[in-house]
Amino acid sequence: MSRRFLVTSALPYANGAIHLGHMLEHVQTDVWVRFQRLRGNDVLYVCADDTHGTATMMRARQEGRSEETLIGEMNLAHQKDFAGFDVRFDHYGSTHSPKNRELCAQVWAALRAQGRVVEREVSRLFDPEAKVFLADRFVKGTCPRCGTPGQYGDNCESCGSTYAASELKDPVSTLSGARPELRSSPQYFVQIEHFHDFLTEWTQAGGHLQTEVANYVKGHFLGEPLRDWDVSRPAPYFGFEIPDAPGHYWYVWFDAPIGYMAATAEWCERTGGSFDRYWRSDDTEIVHFIGKDIIYFHTLFWPAMLKASGLSLPSRIHVHGFLTVDGEKMSKSRGTFVLASTYLEHLDPAYLRYYLASKLGPGIEDLDLNLEEFTARVNADLVGKVVNLASRSARFVEATGLSERYPDDGGLFEQAAAAGDEIAKAYEACDYARAMRSIMQLADRANEFVDRKEPWKLAKAPERAGELRDACTVILNLYRQLAIYLAPVLPRLATSSAELLAAPLAAWDETKRPAVGSKIGKFQHLLARVDPKKVAALVAAQPSAAAPSPAAAATASRNDEVAAAAGNETDDEAALLAEPLAAECSIDDFAKIDLRVARVVAAEPVPEAKKLIKLSVSLGGEHRRTVFAGIKSAYAPEALVGRLVVVVANLAPRKMKFGVSEGMVIAAGPGEKDIFVLSPDSGAKPGQRVH
Ligand code: 2FM
Ligand code: ZN
Repeated sequence: MSRRFLVTSALPYANGAIHLGHMLEHVQTDVWVRFQRLRGNDVLYVCADDTHGTATMMRARQEGRSEETLIGEMNLAHQKDFAGFDVRFDHYGSTHSPKNRELCAQVWAALRAQGRVVEREVSRLFDPEAKVFLADRFVKGTCPRCGTPGQYGDNCESCGSTYAASELKDPVSTLSGARPELRSSPQYFVQIEHFHDFLTEWTQAGGHLQTEVANYVKGHFLGEPLRDWDVSRPAPYFGFEIPDAPGHYWYVWFDAPIGYMAATAEWCERTGGSFDRYWRSDDTEIVHFIGKDIIYFHTLFWPAMLKASGLSLPSRIHVHGFLTVDGEKMSKSRGTFVLASTYLEHLDPAYLRYYLASKLGPGIEDLDLNLEEFTARVNADLVGKVVNLASRSARFVEATGLSERYPDDGGLFEQAAAAGDEIAKAYEACDYARAMRSIMQLADRANEFVDRKEPWKLAKAPERAGELRDACTVILNLYRQLAIYLAPVLPRLATSSAELLAAPLAAWDETKRPAVGSKIGKFQHLLARVDPKKVAALVAAQPSAAAPSPAAAATASRNDEVAAAAGNETDDEAALLAEPLAAECSIDDFAKIDLRVARVVAAEPVPEAKKLIKLSVSLGGEHRRTVFAGIKSAYAPEALVGRLVVVVANLAPRKMKFGVSEGMVIAAGPGEKDIFVLSPDSGAKPGQRVH
């Protein structure tokens, strides 16, 4: 029986551009949504911009325009970025909408009616220069609990405790640098403690949260009474004025999650859908995708607000980790804060979607983006293993189409069909990494079949045309299964593959029935390899981009017009393919390079050159050569003397500042400490040719 879902991603703040950290979450959600649809489930996917608060107000002030103009522009930019990554919402709204105001008033009225709102005079930090009360994120100071300096006004990144901004020691306004003053103003609070038992039950039982998240909530918050939640802000504030408290506005975190409902309601108004079907019904599963920094709001305040309002509670809140770049937090100063729009200027969104999917597990660990691994993985998996199946077979059956009956393939199709259940379980659990691994294992088996059948050889023997057609029928059907399994991650590939195969790829169960007798479209390139030059251009486009690592630079300088398929390497081996294969060369091309065994007879550093060692090598007898090798970072000259190496003996002599280099010593590795001079096995003699 099919299921109905309402799925959301966290609402991005309207005052900033979409970056790759957002894309991690939105791609994760979009993949899940597409997977559910492929399985035949009914999904509504909504999101919106989170517009309110001091940050928007300050930015609009600085830019001399209204908040409405600012958020209108940002909304369009955000939608464009998400669409560029194939993240497809049914509705993308804004928390600054009449519907959201209306729903906020309803939730507020419910809390009031139940006596859960209290008013107290509180002292808040006020910036005497900017003339605003300071939101927690605009105050920094020393954590009142553990003493770590530089912490924001709401919680400490070091010890995880939460507190009021006025408790920070040595506070400073991040807006003006002024020392904030404590000013008194009336304030409205929601008594969350009243919901303690309910929240304990809801967070700890029923499988709404990942186990680690449930434990975190229990360990950090539920062990003591829940503090009253401070849900109002005095003017000036960009937000909705509280109807029964003029001069006071709902705090941004009050109206933000209600934005999930407003987006649903707006979609319902637009399409004639029923709001109650989503928010007042047990038949819909509400699933929120969020980052681990906003667990508190979503697992405590939000369920309490819904409970008080008699609305449906989420079935599942899926929490993910942060995106890091090269093992560190994204940072503008390191040039690793990559905007979605900048990425799209240089690279295909499919690459990032696949890379993220291949690394996203079900837990809350951070996910690291490493651009060398990114290049290697996409090229090895998607181009080398998947698309390559179609490119090595489709053109041979353009004229004939697929065989009329499905040939004997030794059980490959059946096995891949049977693997569908496990792959589906992995998607359902948000363990996309496991799903991708299973799919690539199937791709390996399919490639082994291609290697055994060698369709390109069959194509040269007209008497074997039937065999060729059968082989290609098998290969293209195995390809089709993979394209369906990958469709949640790579929707464009699914569309172009459906055109090529003239067969639908729109349902998971299509993997269970082979396509036979169908025509094959004209083969079009399905997915290009990642061009390392474009990756380097993306790195260079970052405002404060640091110099790329030596390996990235080396990779980027290579010619990568690659036709050769990466073949059937395992994932580990594939990861080593950091550098794409060079263009295919003939044996005659290779023979032009005269590689010889040589013995190092003398080695000395070149003092003026950081990287060079001057070697004297013997090619046998009196044949000596001087070679300058860039290996000083990895080898002491004395360690090389007496060693056998391999040199390019017929390389044109190259005049360098320090002398003429008469050849090249062969070495592997990306550079710095990772350089590995190649040696022949013992017994080889200087002067012997390497074939
Ligand atoms: O942390 C953030 O980026 C918030 N704008 C997320 C809001 S999610 C929901 F509650 F609206
Ligand atoms: Zn602390």
